Amino acid sequence: VKRLQAAGFEGVCGHSALQEFSVSNSASFWAAAARQRLNWISPFHTTQDCDLSRGEIKWFEGGKLNVSVNCLDRHVHTCPERVALIWERDEPGSEVKITYRQLLEMTCRLGNMLRRRGVRKGDCVTIYMPPCPLAVASMLACARIGAAHNVVFAGFSAEALAERIRDAQSSTVITVNQGVRGGKVTELKKAVDTALQSCPTVQQVFVAMRTENPVAMTARDIVMEEYVFNYSDGDVFGCVADIGWITGHSYSVYGPLANGGTTVLFESTPIYPDPGRYWEMVQRLKINQFYGAPTALRLLLKYGDQWVHKYDRSTLKTLGSVGEPINTEAWEWYHRVVGDGRCPVVDTWWQTETGGICITPRPSEPDAEIVPGMAMRPFFGIEPVLMDTEGKVLTSNDTSGALCIAQPWPGMARTIHNDHQRFTETYCQPYPGYFFTGDGAYRSKEGYYQITGRLDDVINVSGHRIGTAEIEDNQYSAVAESAIIGYPHNIKGQGVYAFVVLKKGVNAQEEELSRQLNNMVSKKIAKYACPDFIQFVHRLPKTRSGKIMRRVLRKVVEQDLNGLGDLSTLDDPAAVEEIIQEKKIGQ
Ligand code: WTA
Repeated sequence: VKRLQAAGFEGVCGHSALQEFSVSNSASFWAAAARQRLNWISPFHTTQDCDLSRGEIKWFEGGKLNVSVNCLDRHVHTCPERVALIWERDEPGSEVKITYRQLLEMTCRLGNMLRRRGVRKGDCVTIYMPPCPLAVASMLACARIGAAHNVVFAGFSAEALAERIRDAQSSTVITVNQGVRGGKVTELKKAVDTALQSCPTVQQVFVAMRTENPVAMTARDIVMEEYVFNYSDGDVFGCVADIGWITGHSYSVYGPLANGGTTVLFESTPIYPDPGRYWEMVQRLKINQFYGAPTALRLLLKYGDQWVHKYDRSTLKTLGSVGEPINTEAWEWYHRVVGDGRCPVVDTWWQTETGGICITPRPSEPDAEIVPGMAMRPFFGIEPVLMDTEGKVLTSNDTSGALCIAQPWPGMARTIHNDHQRFTETYCQPYPGYFFTGDGAYRSKEGYYQITGRLDDVINVSGHRIGTAEIEDNQYSAVAESAIIGYPHNIKGQGVYAFVVLKKGVNAQEEELSRQLNNMVSKKIAKYACPDFIQFVHRLPKTRSGKIMRRVLRKVVEQDLNGLGDLSTLDDPAAVEEIIQEKKIGQ
């Protein structure tokens, strides 16, 4: 707030007044923030020119900047030896620190290498790497030379990787020989080799050595050299998200670096080698802000408080939560046990499409009230609204609706790669003039927001988003069709429940079929997407126009039979009855 006030809002006092100003004078607010917080190669002439109803979003027209220069060069100028990255490697105690100067050197070397090897402005480079300095340098190197990066979560299978490489039409892939996570080796280079069998656009693969084990190389593979590191003190931001997801992009890489911070890259798991890992790391690295996902907290609280108490957490100032709704039990535990009741817990709501945090409690205002499990208040420049089913804005409090955002902000998505129409249809058309988030929310009597979950066909397993269609889309010869539904799960937030209709004449053992289906999903997408329950059914409830009634299936899975709602559009209501009779969950 102080920095923003220094940017020319001296007359606007306090967080609430500044929030109000940022919404009612959006253009001048963002113009001042952009001028003050970023270095521009050429200044912009028009702050914004946006029409949400047509999905046309333009910010800072005429302006030119380089994000890697903003993340690196300007800090190297003032504080070259400040630690930029702390790479928290899988083995506790083997962390590596990289200064801003070193990160700039790595980035420039990589940028030059990519350019020498033919990567040009506008190309899209696929990065399939676990969180490590070289992965960050690769992202920044792409940004530096004007290439787009397509970071694919290293937990994804060869097939899921192939699909993403094809979609991006990449000619270049950057990967590591092997990954190491939770004491286990993962064969990332091998997965790339498999993926590339169906990716004709790829001409070269850069392979960095994460382990010492040699892996098979082909003519298109190029080995990358390893690098130097150093040590110095700084303020330490510990976001434990993987760089393969947006939280890792915005809060492990670009956010902390653009602000000259020191950021931790977490390669391991919360329970390796034991459930004290996070807190042992907080003690050892002297982490000041810890940012993680509710799913990990729910897992850790089961192991007991002793794993937390064992370590000194006095450096912690703020605890952040992101990715899914945080239940009260996990929130209380985070606050009382991890933060000893003295660190504010910020439950931050946002999504890939928003680029950064949109609704959040405000620790910058010392006395601001924080209610457990609530994302609370809109951040600067964000004007949330709730819509009823008819598309009317709900103006009163103590009400629930579809969460939309009433005006554009600079960090928002502006299109979908190669599919602008899908962007407009998904985000702009459902509520014309508003940006639709796909989430439902509740606004309390006091006007605070609580996110209730996804309204569409996207499920969120352990903080990882996946479209139900991607799991359903399998080529298994025994399956006629399937419907995937997310259901509330104690640890993962949402679990995966599969309704499967077999082809006529298939009469294999259900257990054996379930095992094979799980193997397939794990191979095609990733382990986390595997169904927790598979129910074999004779048919799926459908509307007369042939659409699977997911709403009804969801209610069946949630055991909310009174909430089945209007079944009159169903082709044959008996299909629902059959499924209820045979339901597995809770049995
Ligand atoms: C969900 C992750 C409740 C939401 C940043 C959103 C949350 C989706 C919260 C985006 C929160 C994120 N409370 N739900 N604090 N934060 N979500 O794109 O459903 O991986 O739409 O971005 O996660 O997931 P994504």
